Amino acid sequence: MRPEDVPFAERLSAASFLELDQRTLPRSWPDPVERPPGRAEKWVERTLSLLRTDPGGCWVAEVDDRMVGYATSLERELMWILASYGVLPDAQGRGIGRQLLDAAMQHGRGCLRMMLSASQDPRAVRRYLLAGFRMHPQMYLTGTVDRALLPVVEKTREGSAGDIDLMNSVDRQTRGAAHLSDHEVLLRQYALVVADAHTGSGYVYHDAFGSPQLLAATNRRTAAALLWEALAASDPLVNVDIAHVTAANPWAVDVGVAARLDLHTAGYLALRGMKPPAPYLHHGSLL
Ligand SMILES: CC(C)(COP(=O)(O)OP(=O)(O)OC[C@H]1O[C@@H](n2cnc3c(N)ncnc32)[C@H](O)[C@@H]1OP(=O)(O)O)[C@@H](O)C(=O)NCCC(=O)NCCS
Repeated sequence: MRPEDVPFAERLSAASFLELDQRTLPRSWPDPVERPPGRAEKWVERTLSLLRTDPGGCWVAEVDDRMVGYATSLERELMWILASYGVLPDAQGRGIGRQLLDAAMQHGRGCLRMMLSASQDPRAVRRYLLAGFRMHPQMYLTGTVDRALLPVVEKTREGSAGDIDLMNSVDRQTRGAAHLSDHEVLLRQYALVVADAHTGSGYVYHDAFGSPQLLAATNRRTAAALLWEALAASDPLVNVDIAHVTAANPWAVDVGVAARLDLHTAGYLALRGMKPPAPYLHHGSLL
């Protein structure tokens, strides 16, 4: 993949995920929509950053000079992560995805651990199972948060670039590898709340609507406090999502249920050489 490929890869990704949502989302749900411009910009910024840190992990597939698929991946401290992966709907099921995944996984051949957040596309799941991954189902909680239910949270504060060392240390304790330069990208894209007390440390990045994007903490009590702090940033009229909750993180289900959110399942955390991190809510592409 070259930098000039990235905007096209983003559109390809948006098209393949829209078609996947149309194929798999429950019929009782609102009709899926294509990734909106704000999220598309974040996708492009993240991918350009990966091209700088991990050019060997990012690939495109072309047929007759037309891009039909891509895979982006990164290596952080002996952990390989698949960031994003898609093939145009009309080119799927013909072995293109397999070649892309093989190329991206070559980048992680020296790694001890591997992780990715899998969609529920049976084609994707089949690829990951054949590549040696174990699937851990993901839950998510969704709904609006009644402000009267928010507890008073102490020992948290707004975070900044000065907290990157602390966050890398919590990453190593929870997922076994630091996010390193990915924290710089995340800091530009989201709000950050940090806990740094003798009772526990951790952090949560959340979007403008209070949905957590990545959370790591040294114990469950601190993790729950950080999650409540993210929910406190939500708008009572706008839906918030607590996504990517594995069975190893029941504390997040407890917070979501106390906030009167509805519980669902979607996709898998796919892992090789490691157990589901906890207390931890992974990021969808930087995990
Ligand atoms: C996942 C994805 C990238 C795979 O690309 P692809 O080109 O379709 O992959 P391949 O053709 O190499 O492999 C698909 C496998 O699923 C099988 N398959 C095809 N249709 C299937 C179906 N309806 N159900 C189950 N398996 C199916 C294929 O036979 C193949 O297995 P095989 O190699 O053992 O024969 C692509 O399908 C996609 O973009 N999906 C939507 C977005 C997505 O889910 N991305 C992954 C996010 S984690």
